[in-house]
Amino acid sequence: MKRFAAFIALALPMNGQAHAQETAEAAWERIYAVTSHPRCANCHVGASGRPAWDDLGYGATRLHGMNVVAGDSRIGAETVPCRTCHIGAAGPNDVPHAAPQLDDAWRLPPVELEWYGKSSAQICALLRDPERNDGFSPAELVEHVRSSAFVAYGFAPGGGRNPAPGSVETLARDLEIWAAGGMPCASE
Ligand code: HEC
Ligand code: HEC
Repeated sequence: MKRFAAFIALALPMNGQAHAQETAEAAWERIYAVTSHPRCANCHVGASGRPAWDDLGYGATRLHGMNVVAGDSRIGAETVPCRTCHIGAAGPNDVPHAAPQLDDAWRLPPVELEWYGKSSAQICALLRDPERNDGFSPAELVEHVRSSAFVAYGFAPGGGRNPAPGSVETLARDLEIWAAGGMPCASE
């Protein structure tokens, strides 16, 4: 009986840890479903500077039309700012195929935040390492998700576009669970 009690005392915290790990892995799966979704990944492109139009009715692997390629500034094709077409004010986005608009300067993320076409393991490694993700700590990721007009757009894009799965709040909570569980990646 004594041995049994000792076993329980040891096993309980271990189970608790295993549970947190499992929960964090499940949270990561949901985070990946969002970060790999076209509403997010179409902007989160890397050095190519070419935003994508995947899942806008043109089929998969479709790059932005009109030869739009962002320059180093990431806020436009240098002589043609993104906001020439993507108006920098909140709007209903109810016209299919019109350039989406929101209350921020439409632009690409920094090159390091490249998610487009990346695997779960690659995006995971990037998100958990501030050295590689433009300096975002887990807490700052949550803060960004809750306050960014871009993230809000991804969950409510309008214009007949498929929204990213979940909501701003479920993503923020999943990031918190994932961080609390030690930020595991799928292959671990
Ligand atoms: C219109 C382009 C655009 C779209 C669409 C977009 N983002 Fe971003 N994202 C940015 C920019 C720009 C930054 C860099 C921070 C800033 O300037 O606000 C960024 C940064 C981030 C960051 C923090 C940096 C990191 O480590 O990767 C997260 C998290 C993020 N975005 C999540 C999302 C999610 C989730 C979606 C979809 C629901 C999304 N974004 C859609 C432009 C976009
Ligand atoms: C000449 C006008 C024009 C310019 C300039 C332009 N866009 Fe677009 N963009 C559009 C249009 C129109 C759409 C919507 C296409 C559709 O839905 O069929 C669009 C859609 C997008 C999408 C897809 C959004 C989604 O939810 O999948 C992204 C990403 C994007 N633009 C990024 C950019 C970035 C970044 C820049 C600047 C480097 C830029 N665009 C400059 C006209 C433009």
